[in-house]
Amino acid sequence: MPVSHPLRGSVRIPGDKSITHRAILFSALAKGTSRIDGYLPSDDCLRTVAAFRQMGVAFEAFVRDGTPTLRVTGTGRLSEPSDVIDCGNSGTTIRLLTGLLAGQPFFSVLTGDASLRRRPMRRVIGPLRRMGAVISGRADDHLAPLAICGRQLFGTDHLLPFASAQVKSALLLAGLTANGVTRVREPASSRDHTERMLSHFGHPCERQDGWISVQGGGTLTGVDMAIPGDFSSAAFFLVAGAVVEGSEIVLDQIGVNPTRTGLIDTLREMGADILLTPRASRCGEPVAQINVRWRRLRGTTVSRDRLLSMIDEFPIFCVAAAMAEGETVIRGAEELRVKESDRIAAMAEALSAVGVTAEALPDGIRIRGGRQLVGGACRTHGDHRVAMAMSIAALVADGPITLNDIDSIQTSFPDFMMQLASLTSPNHPQPVL
Ligand code: S3P
Repeated sequence: MPVSHPLRGSVRIPGDKSITHRAILFSALAKGTSRIDGYLPSDDCLRTVAAFRQMGVAFEAFVRDGTPTLRVTGTGRLSEPSDVIDCGNSGTTIRLLTGLLAGQPFFSVLTGDASLRRRPMRRVIGPLRRMGAVISGRADDHLAPLAICGRQLFGTDHLLPFASAQVKSALLLAGLTANGVTRVREPASSRDHTERMLSHFGHPCERQDGWISVQGGGTLTGVDMAIPGDFSSAAFFLVAGAVVEGSEIVLDQIGVNPTRTGLIDTLREMGADILLTPRASRCGEPVAQINVRWRRLRGTTVSRDRLLSMIDEFPIFCVAAAMAEGETVIRGAEELRVKESDRIAAMAEALSAVGVTAEALPDGIRIRGGRQLVGGACRTHGDHRVAMAMSIAALVADGPITLNDIDSIQTSFPDFMMQLASLTSPNHPQPVL
């Protein structure tokens, strides 16, 4: 028997992390002032702000009509940072900056926390070198800190061996400063926020026959924009609504870029009741209200292609799979071993600790769902998404689930615990449906 009473109401989802990084980055590069409404003031995004502050860009943060807002004033030029840039836990910050700084006329050093310093960087350094970049890193150029001697780059074609939005974006950013045209092709389409944001800033970014191309040179001009709610943050409440008996949850103004919403398609295939109502788009990104109602789920198989559009939802999807009747298998997910933590190992361990049969596979996981979750002690491995996923699992366990560390949640969803508490409180307002 589920332990939580039905969850009913709406949850306010903060701005999209990936899009906030890009909004900050392009505003910082642009000449003039940009206003970013609904940016995500989380640790990860504030690392990107701090990096550009070190390079002479002015930021002013304020709240406008209850919405976190950022005013960015750029000069169209960056200046050499006088110290090492600390990207904290943020893979997007370090990889995108590596691409951007490779083509700047100055020296810079990028580093991060212990988790980020374990994550692979060769994937960006290798292709950037083909454009003339001079970058070196620890452990034979595999790991940060990275030292970048900025150079004039030249446009190059890149055929990527695997789909990664961070690698693609790093190359497109390098391409912005390069002579000529830079083209990138991926085996499957990763999230395309960089391409959309470039177009929003009026810089052409074309897609033809699978190639994404950007012309070097030109100056960006500041623009205003509103950031959609983060689908990856909404996902925790989407799954909560789908698995807690009797629930009905509304999530409004959520980004529903098709490169991000594989979780909706997969949950629907498992029997979930999810309704999307389109809203006005924001900075070239589709937006919707999402209504989810509890229904019994059944297990499924997730393919490599589908996984790409739900890559960050793996931890919370594992919780949905644990609640679904029958077996769920995810394959082709080796990338998850090098995220903020080894998410395959972390989720197999955490689910096992709460009574779920979960087997880590080299490239995925096998979960036998449908049994009552029990209380237990889980390690989050300093990973925000593991911590939030297991907080949702706690709603359906018949005893308390304790987490060794939840500080990491600050990297993407500082308000998460408050939103969860307000939704689970019996006095929470009923949804307007
Ligand atoms: C991101 C790209 C993805 C994703 C990460 C954010 C981005 O990483 O997992 O959380 O903002 O570009 P990869 O490019 O490593 O797949």
